[in-house]
Amino acid sequence: MSTRPDITETFDALVLGAGAAGLFYGARAGESGHRVLVVDHAAKPAEKVRISGGGRCNFTNIHTKPENFLSANPHFARSALARYTPQDFIDRLACHDIRWHEKTLGQLFCDGRSGAIIDMLVGELREAGGELRLDTSIADITKTADGFRVETSGNTIECRRLVIATGGLSIPKMGATGLAYDVARQFGHAVIEPRPALVPFVFEGREKTDFASISGLACAVEARNARAAFEEALLFTHRGLSGPAILQISSYWANGEPIVIDLLRSQDAVRALTGFKADHPKKSLASALEILLPNRLVGLLIARGEIPDIPRLADMSHVAIREVVEKLSAWTIKPAGTEGWRTAEVTAGGVDTDGLSSKTMESRSVPGLFFIGECVDVTGWLGGYNFQWAWASAAAAAQA
Ligand code: FDA
Repeated sequence: MSTRPDITETFDALVLGAGAAGLFYGARAGESGHRVLVVDHAAKPAEKVRISGGGRCNFTNIHTKPENFLSANPHFARSALARYTPQDFIDRLACHDIRWHEKTLGQLFCDGRSGAIIDMLVGELREAGGELRLDTSIADITKTADGFRVETSGNTIECRRLVIATGGLSIPKMGATGLAYDVARQFGHAVIEPRPALVPFVFEGREKTDFASISGLACAVEARNARAAFEEALLFTHRGLSGPAILQISSYWANGEPIVIDLLRSQDAVRALTGFKADHPKKSLASALEILLPNRLVGLLIARGEIPDIPRLADMSHVAIREVVEKLSAWTIKPAGTEGWRTAEVTAGGVDTDGLSSKTMESRSVPGLFFIGECVDVTGWLGGYNFQWAWASAAAAAQA
């Protein structure tokens, strides 16, 4: 015999997932007079906000444009992003006296801990009359005549609107699940195959050992493939390559593909090396390259036979210098894979936007069913774009 109390509660909106998008939606819908309940299976809300940005939450990017997002439909995010801008979120922080600073490339971080943003999100939800219920898992969802019935580990909840904000698959240790995709499929929505994004590359064999030998070394590069190019830092690690340039290009990478690293960026390397040769003809190519690149990296590239070991620059022709520069401007490597869901910052792919309204995030086929945040097939670049999508998609759904 079941001991579970069988009290059915009714809400205007039930939000599954108390992360960035779910909490933000809850507060906005509550302010519009809706009775809202936000549930989460975790013991604490918005844990990804807490750890984001090294504990200081890179909460938006002032240069946010639709072009900073990947999606099977690149236009889908346009409407929501235009209607809820980075400035709107900045204005909200001002009301809560949360101070921030721009770190680089338009990325805004809290001056203090990211917990201040969680306090703001939870505080605004409660002020708007919304409820937050943690440690609550979802057992079953069914459609009713005028809404949905959701069986939770606590009780049964009926609602007119069901808002799915349970995020993607990144970092299962933090409670990530594929619930959003299961619900989408249950109600006839397509799901674009989810894959780890903003994730370090791993290598095998000789490359793994070589990169590990200079792990911790960072340098400014351009990482590119046929679809995208990013000028940022690259970091050698014990398992392969990381750093912002690598995380960014990983979102555009498919298994088995090579990536091209421009180790010289826009430096006029031919002129620099030719000038060095004129001044120091008896010095080696390695010492000349050290004016352009970290010396441990130069040593590694020579040891790997990627550039020649030339003891005297006087012996190098102009053509040979050009060849070295061309090699370093298009250093081509083939990752064995990525670190996967364990460390991926986000999930690319997700609920197919074809089935959703870009104005409201509502299902086109099931009225009252909404998908917001990372579970949707909209994935931002590194640098605050993913939180901006969480706020903007939540605001769009709450305005519906
Ligand atoms: P989010 O994942 O935040 O929330 C989903 C919620 O649903 C969670 O609370 C989870 O417990 C709950 N849930 C999941 N399955 C459930 C189930 N079956 N039942 C009940 N509840 C369930 N972005 C950015 O813009 N700037 C940054 O600085 C960073 N930094 C960063 C660092 C790290 C380490 C990671 C992993 C990610 C980032 N991100 C980021 C990405 C950002 O955190 C992410 O895009 C947003 O948190 C997505 O918000 P959502 O609300 O959609 O999902």
